[in-house]
Amino acid sequence: MSTDQNEKKRPEIFSAGRFSPVQEMEVFKVTADKSVRKILLKRKDGKAANAFKAGQYLSLQSRIGTSLVARPYSIYTSPKLAEEGFYGIAVEDFPGAFAGHWFGQLKEGTTVRVAAPLGNFVPDGQKEIIALAGGSGITPFLSMAAAIADGELDLDLTILYGNTSREAEMLQEEIAALQEASERVKVISVYSEEKDKEAESGFPDARLVKKYARGDYEVWACGPGPMYDFLKEDLPQLGLPAARIRMEMSAVTKDPELLPGYPPEAIGERYTVKVLGLQDVYTISALAHEPLSATLERAALPFQTHCRSGVCGWCSALLEEGEVYCPSASEFRSEKERFEGKIRLCTSFPLSDCVVRLDGEE
Ligand code: FES
Repeated sequence: MSTDQNEKKRPEIFSAGRFSPVQEMEVFKVTADKSVRKILLKRKDGKAANAFKAGQYLSLQSRIGTSLVARPYSIYTSPKLAEEGFYGIAVEDFPGAFAGHWFGQLKEGTTVRVAAPLGNFVPDGQKEIIALAGGSGITPFLSMAAAIADGELDLDLTILYGNTSREAEMLQEEIAALQEASERVKVISVYSEEKDKEAESGFPDARLVKKYARGDYEVWACGPGPMYDFLKEDLPQLGLPAARIRMEMSAVTKDPELLPGYPPEAIGERYTVKVLGLQDVYTISALAHEPLSATLERAALPFQTHCRSGVCGWCSALLEEGEVYCPSASEFRSEKERFEGKIRLCTSFPLSDCVVRLDGEE
C-alpha cells in the first residue's frame, strides 16, 4: 500500500482544473459475451452524449476506496447512438488487477464518470482499410463499421479478426448485423487454434492482407501487445509506406520486468516518490513494477490519465530527480519532451527515489 503523508489534505476528485470535462453516465445494460461484458452507458441527464468519431475511446473514472482511477475503453457502437445518449464498450475483467477488476465488475445502475471521447485512431479520408484485430481489439473497427452502415463514413472496411477459435470470438451478433447492414463491411474470422471451413487459419497478417485487399488500401491494427511485436516484423513485406500502416497502441503497459532493457536489480524494489505541482507536496511509496500513474492513483492524487499506453500525453510530468524505466515499445515522447526531462506517468516505472512535478504547474 502506498503511504500518503498528507492524507488529510488530498485534493478532491475531478475538481482540479487538470481534468477534462466529464459526463455522468449510468451503467444502463450489461450483457456477458465470451471473455468480455458489453456495457451500454447512458448519460444520466438524458441529453446527447458527447459526440465522438468512430475509432475513439472513453476514459472511465471512479473512486475506488480512497483511490482515484481511470481506465480507457474503445467505443464499439455507432457515433449516431451517442446522439441518443449512449455509448457501448466491451470490458474485460482482470480478477487480480486493481481498477481492471473493479471496472470489469460494473453493475447496472452504477454511476461512472466518463471523460470526453479521445484518440486519433479515426479514419480521415481513406477509401479502403484492411483492419487487423486481435480479441477485444475489434471494438474501434466495429464502431467504424457502424458509421459506414449509417452512411457517416465513406469507406470499404475489411476486418481480419483474430482469435484462438470460434468459441473465443466476442461480439458475434454485432458483427453479423453490421455485415448485413452494409456491403462495404466484411469480417473474416481468423483462428489460430482451430480449423474452420468458414474462417482463415493462423493470425491476421501480411499474407491475409494481400489476399483481401482490393485497391488503394491502408492497414490498421488494434490488439494485444504481442500482436504489434509480430506485425512490426511481418507487415514490411507489404511494401507500404509507413504512413499507410496505423497501430492503435491501446495495450496498458505492465510487467516491466519481462520487457527488454529492464534492470533486474529493480525487481521487487519499493521507492519513494515526491509529487510537486499540487497545492501541497506529497511523498508516497511506489512499487517498482507499477507505473507511476498507478502509484498516484492509489494515493488519490489528481492528474489526467486517459490512454494508459503512453500515446495521448495527458499524464505528462517533469521528472526533476531520479530515474525511471520506459519500455521502448511505449516510447511516444518527442525529442523535445525527452530533452526537457518530461515523462509519461503511465509508462514510467521508478528505478530509484524520484521527484515528479505534475505538468502545467510551476
Ligand atoms: S494516459 Fe495517455 S500518455 Fe499516459
